[in-house]
Formats: sequence, C-alpha cells, structure tokens
Amino acid sequence: MSVQREKIIIFDTTLRDGEQSPGASMDVHEKVLVAKQLEMLGVDKLEAGFPVSSPGDFDAVQAVAGEVERAIVIGLCRARPEDISIAWNAVKDAKNPGLHTFIATSDIHMKHKLRMTRDEVLVSVQEAVAACRELSPSVEFSAEDATRSDWDFLVDVYAAAISAGADTINIPDTVGYTNPQEFFDLITHLRNKVRGIEGVTMSVHCHNDLGLGTANSLSAVLAGARQIECTINGIGERAGNTSLEEVVMIFNVRKDLYGHLFTTIDASQIFPTSRLVSHITGIPVQPNKAVVGSNAFAHEAGIHQDGYLKERSTYEIMTPEAVGIGTSQLVLGKHSGKHALSKRLESLGYRLSDKDLVKVFNRFKEISDKKKQVFDADIEAIVLEEIYRVPDRYELKHINVTSGTVTVPTATVQLLIDDQIVQEAGFGNGPVDALYKTIIRMTGSRAELKRFSVSSITRGTDAQGEVTVELKEKDAVTVGQGSDPDILVASAKALINAMNRLELIKTRKTTTYPSL
Ligand code: KIV
Ligand code: ZN
Repeated sequence: MSVQREKIIIFDTTLRDGEQSPGASMDVHEKVLVAKQLEMLGVDKLEAGFPVSSPGDFDAVQAVAGEVERAIVIGLCRARPEDISIAWNAVKDAKNPGLHTFIATSDIHMKHKLRMTRDEVLVSVQEAVAACRELSPSVEFSAEDATRSDWDFLVDVYAAAISAGADTINIPDTVGYTNPQEFFDLITHLRNKVRGIEGVTMSVHCHNDLGLGTANSLSAVLAGARQIECTINGIGERAGNTSLEEVVMIFNVRKDLYGHLFTTIDASQIFPTSRLVSHITGIPVQPNKAVVGSNAFAHEAGIHQDGYLKERSTYEIMTPEAVGIGTSQLVLGKHSGKHALSKRLESLGYRLSDKDLVKVFNRFKEISDKKKQVFDADIEAIVLEEIYRVPDRYELKHINVTSGTVTVPTATVQLLIDDQIVQEAGFGNGPVDALYKTIIRMTGSRAELKRFSVSSITRGTDAQGEVTVELKEKDAVTVGQGSDPDILVASAKALINAMNRLELIKTRKTTTYPSL
C-alpha cells in the first residue's frame, strides 16, 4: 500500500526574525538580494519584515513584494489596526501577498507587557484576524509565547482566530523554553481540542535558547504540524531560530524515518544562500554549524580519514555537493579565462548577469596575480564582495602601512567620503592599530570596536584573509566583513563595511523593533 506523501511548508523568516539579530539590519537593496536568493532556494513563504517598525523596513518589504515571483510575501503586524494597514500597504502589490498577525497569550506577557485580560486578548485576536482577512488572501495568526501559555486558553485563542478567518495558526516557542516531548503533547492537545483546526495549516516557530529549535520543530511535525518557520544559518532574536538548512536536510537524509514527508527546497542552493546571508548580515557562521559550517564536511581524525578515503559513506551521511558546496579539485589561476570562471560560478550556484560577470572577472584577475591558485572559496568571496555590497558612504581607495621591529607602525589612508577624496596618515601600536586609528579619525566616527577577528578563507600563506569587525555606537551594533590576500587591506575593508552599515542604521527612523 502506498503512503500519501505530505509536503512540509517552509516559511522563511530570515528577513524578519533573522533581521532581529543584533547588528543584522538590512537595507532595501540587501533584502531584495536575499529575497531573490530565497526564491531560488524554493521557500514557500517569505516573511519580508515588520513594516510598522520603520519607514526603511516598510520600503524594503514593499521592494521585496515587487520582486518575488512565486513565494507568498508576508508582512508581520501586531494585532492592532494601524500595524495591519501598514503591513498590508507594504505587501499588497506582491503576486502572492500575505499577513501574519500576532498577540501574546501567556499570563506573564499579558500581565506585564500588554496589561490586558484574557477576554481583552480574545477580542483583539478576533478583530485583528478579521481585519487581516478583509484585506489579504492569506492570513496567519500567532499566539506569542504559546509554550508558556495556559493550554486551555490557547484552545480558545486559536478557535477564535480560525473562526475569524485565519488559514494558518502558528504556535511559537518564543523564548526557546519547550522540549520535544512537551511540544509534541501541546500540538496534539491543540489538534484534538481546537474547533476548526482540521481546515487550517498548523505551523511552528521555535527559538533556540536551549539549542532545541530543530528538535522541537521536528517533534511538532510528528504531532501533525505542516509548516516550519525557520531562518538561514539559524539567525534570529537572541540564540536564533530553527535553521532552515537543518530541517530540510533531515527530511532529505532520513527518508527511512520521514519518507512520507517532503519539502520542495532545492538543497543545492543551501550553501550559496548561507554564504550570502552571512555576508550581508555580517554574522559569521560558526565552523561546526550543522550542514553549512566550514568543518561540517571536514574529516580530521586519522581513523576517520582512513575510513572516508576507503568509502565516503563510512563517515559522511550527506555529500557536500548535496547542499551546494563545491568540492571541485579544479583550481583556477591567472591563465583561466572568463568562460572557465563563468562555468565555475554556475556550478557553485551563482547565476550572474554579463555586467556582474565582468566585475567578478576583473577582481579575479587581480587576485590571481597575487596568488597562484584561486579556489572555490576565493571565488565566492569575490562574488560576495563585488556584487552583494552595502551602498558606500565611505569607500577605500588606498592604504600604505609600514611596520617592523624598529619602526613606529604608520598608516597612510586614502578614502572617498561622500564623493570627496580624503587622505591622512597616523601612528599606532601595531599596523592594524595605526590603520584603524587613522580611518576612525578621518571619518569622525564615535563607534567603539567590540570585536576584531581574522581567519583564512583557504589554505597556504598566500590565502585570502577574511576579517570580521563589530562596531557599537549608542544602541546600534553592526558587523562588517572584508577579504583580501593582504590582511591589512582586508582589515580596512571590514572596518569600512561596518561603518557603512552604521550609516545605514542612522538613516533609518528607528533602529530597534517595537515591543513584540
Ligand atoms: O518568536 C515569536 O513569537 C515571533 C512571533 C512574532 C511569531 O517571532
Ligand atoms: Zn520569533
């Protein structure tokens, strides 16, 4: 007897909950780039932002709505009339628009945050969902902090949302508090008790405060949920959300357990999407991150290497190629032409316009003059820097740094600031210190440097260095990245990238999300 296969809907919230990670704010252009990549990945629903949070986010959601062809583009709104109408105005021109409204239902949130009674919350749920339904063909309702809410009250809340017109009810583990067994029981309780539940999609949205986001989402699916809300690289508020790449690969790898369930994600786009999101948000991926970390497919122990070389499946449950990680031994160099580069880019999942290909090729030529072998990771770094970059207020023109055992480290820097060439020199305790002090003086920045880290993109002493810096100015935190075979140039690029992001935040009317 053949089993009916059921689809798990992938609701991506990288552009909304993911953007709530400290320092991850994205501008219009960046959100559109990520949204297009998420479409290539094949997400079913794409939460583009929280339009009432700032005019900048409204514009970004509207721009995403105008670009996305297939996925449902969703705007988040609290259960308030003004939020709902602003969110609708932002998404209404999408080919497939949707609204997602929410209100908190736990006693702790209702008492201290909302200062509302249960009855008042129930009325808000009905009114908000009905108002969304008047406008939008797709309406989701979330009971925020559901996992710390009274289960019987939740039954009434979700029944009210369904009778007012919600087609999807979402059960968030807002503070990452539940565990797989308890969450399974809660989903089962709701399935058995909520009137009308058989006609709607049950969704889950898990946070990772105790590292259980993926396990809890999977457990909910086993109890009957059919939509998972998740983000690329698991980014999001505090410890982040369930990782898209983890849930998708669980269904792909463990067909023996979940053969009756499937997603329609193109897994070969996972790695390019992960790199793009990391580059644009400035949030690096931890090396041991499941599926997309740089060590996820590295075999270090001798006994593992031996087994792997004899038969890959001894230590590999999925191949790097399956998630779009190029493992080609084909290395490009300074004699490689545009055609070879374009073929390599295609196999890495990047489809560039002719104009962008020329930009990438020119930078490739510069890099291959400096280093003999150009690896896949170098090519990715070039694409990310050349094509997916924040609009610059500050642009690096040149640096010249001298240091050594007997000289005072000195840096000369030339920048383009608001289209004006500015040049200055300065000293420091070391070459990076001299460089950073000079740049900071030239830009008049008051930002504090919170983090500076260097890693190498590939192997060898001629490898490109990748520098990440974190800056803080008042409440705003930004992260910048830069790569170059010269680590001082990479350091300057990273600092300037973080400063450009800080400028971006300053031009937005608000930098923080209103209270959820
Ligand atoms: O974590 C949460 O509860 C949320 C809701 C808005 C769904 O992000
Ligand atoms: Zn959340």
